[in-house]
Amino acid sequence: MNRRLGVLISGRGSNLQALIQAIDKGRLPAEIGVVISNRGEAGGLDLARAAGIDTLFLDHRQFATRDDYDARVAQELLARSVSLVCLAGYMRLVSGRLLEAFPDAVLNIHPSLLPAFPGMNAQQQALEHGVKVTGATVHFVTPELDGGPIVIQACVPVQDGDTIETLAERILAEEHRIYPEAVRTVLAGGWRLDGRRFVSERPVSDVPTD
Ligand code: GRF
Repeated sequence: MNRRLGVLISGRGSNLQALIQAIDKGRLPAEIGVVISNRGEAGGLDLARAAGIDTLFLDHRQFATRDDYDARVAQELLARSVSLVCLAGYMRLVSGRLLEAFPDAVLNIHPSLLPAFPGMNAQQQALEHGVKVTGATVHFVTPELDGGPIVIQACVPVQDGDTIETLAERILAEEHRIYPEAVRTVLAGGWRLDGRRFVSERPVSDVPTD
């Protein structure tokens, strides 16, 4: 696996920013080959441009099917020699066309401790359910929504006075910490998937950064 990332976004891009910062600070030995958004107004596109990263807006509404769209996304990623794809607030289901082009090489970040609260509004789901602990998960993407093998999770306590916003903010801080860590771990190799289990030879926090 080379160290070129493709990041797919739909919105503000704070997780993208966390990846950019980790790379800049030498904590994540990687480079971002391209940021692709399905929304032209995504704030993350501006963040990427400001960091001098190649960006591409591909409007999904211009494609007849999800497969057609994902085939084009895969083509653009492969053309830039991307080896690992990071979904970062990418608000679309991913089809087999992208997963076949990048087997075991598409990651996603989700704001809950999966398998609890998959799908939209995970923070609201957690509050409404009344859990005392929630968190964030980085996982491999499979055709099942938020259902792939888990690379890293982080716990976040739910406080009595929490609103969706305060809880989301506390979870987001953990997302920004664990996404670069998960990407670094996956790029470093020395891991395998044993059924659903991501098994790494090294402790996740002890991955050499050179
Ligand atoms: C994050 O909470 C992420 O876990 C979820 O969508 C949100 C994206 O935020 N998948 P951002 O665009 O990275 O700021």
